[in-house]
Amino acid sequence: MQNKAAVWRFWRYSNDDVAVQKARQDVAGLAPAVVVTGGSRGIGLALARRFLESGHKTVIVARDAVRLEEAAADLKAATGSDVTSILCDVSEPNAFEVITGGLNRAGLYLDVLVNNAGIGLAGPFVEHSEADLSRLVGLNVEAMTRLNRSVLPAMLGRRRGGILNVASLGGVIPGPNQAAYYASKAYVVSLTEAIASEVSGSGVRVSALLPGPINTGFHDAMGADNSLYRYVLPPMSAESVARSAYRGFMLGNRVIVPGISNLFFFLVLRFLPHMVTVPIMYWLLRRPGSLTKT
Ligand SMILES: NC(=O)c1ccc[n+]([C@@H]2O[C@H](COP(=O)([O-])OP(=O)(O)OC[C@H]3O[C@@H](n4cnc5c(N)ncnc54)[C@H](OP(=O)(O)O)[C@@H]3O)[C@@H](O)[C@H]2O)c1
Repeated sequence: MQNKAAVWRFWRYSNDDVAVQKARQDVAGLAPAVVVTGGSRGIGLALARRFLESGHKTVIVARDAVRLEEAAADLKAATGSDVTSILCDVSEPNAFEVITGGLNRAGLYLDVLVNNAGIGLAGPFVEHSEADLSRLVGLNVEAMTRLNRSVLPAMLGRRRGGILNVASLGGVIPGPNQAAYYASKAYVVSLTEAIASEVSGSGVRVSALLPGPINTGFHDAMGADNSLYRYVLPPMSAESVARSAYRGFMLGNRVIVPGISNLFFFLVLRFLPHMVTVPIMYWLLRRPGSLTKT
């Protein structure tokens, strides 16, 4: 049965060489680029640097123009390579058009998408405003889904490139006190693994990155910097996460968990029952001063 599926995939992706040549011809004269959303700081910046160091033309996307230009200049100083920056709020419905427009003007086409821009939300679910929840779902779920759907057809047509979706170790467990954020990352993991299965054999890589905690401004921005997990779980550096992500992506791994201790937590969270792990997550993610259980 498995062999039949493999043969079908091979047939589906290999009997139309003319169409592949035509799809590749459509981008003749343009250079392939890695586009990193949220590439102006944190994990995105480290990922952009890692791709640049391996010789990929790399483009960073974010909303704050000043920080974006500073990041591009820092990357150029660190790697000696030019970096294109595109000012774009990826949660806007026209983000794909804005990004492809910027790439075209720079003589590039989108070969690899690193879907990294994301936000968190800490505290009891009932205390979140509707606006904050929509912002989180709009970026972590909707924008990520839209971008995956927009970039895949051309990648499949050319039978090259790929998508690296940045999820989180939190994507494998419910996260009381960061409920919507954890649920959004569970969606990212599920969607990525499913798409990866659908496109397997096509020459297009699709991977989910599941980092544990990393010291970026992310935790402070969502008001979680004093939560217990910030003291208990050992953080990795964004640079080592980026190294691991790059290696896993190039190897075609569908799920990438950087770091030995995170791999251990990943296995524990996957295999222990939720009745054991979810209460532990409650205490790890609880913010001092939040509602307590009665
Ligand atoms: N830090 C962690 O411990 C950790 C752990 C696991 C997973 N993650 C995931 O890793 C990803 C990056 O996290 P990080 O810690 O590097 O976050 P960060 O330091 O807060 O950086 C976020 C980046 O995303 C950009 N961004 C935010 N909203 C955007 C939007 N609407 N459109 C375009 N760009 C946007 C920001 O730039 P602008 O504000 O200028 O737009 C910035 O470049 C997120 O998906 C997060 O969920 C983080």
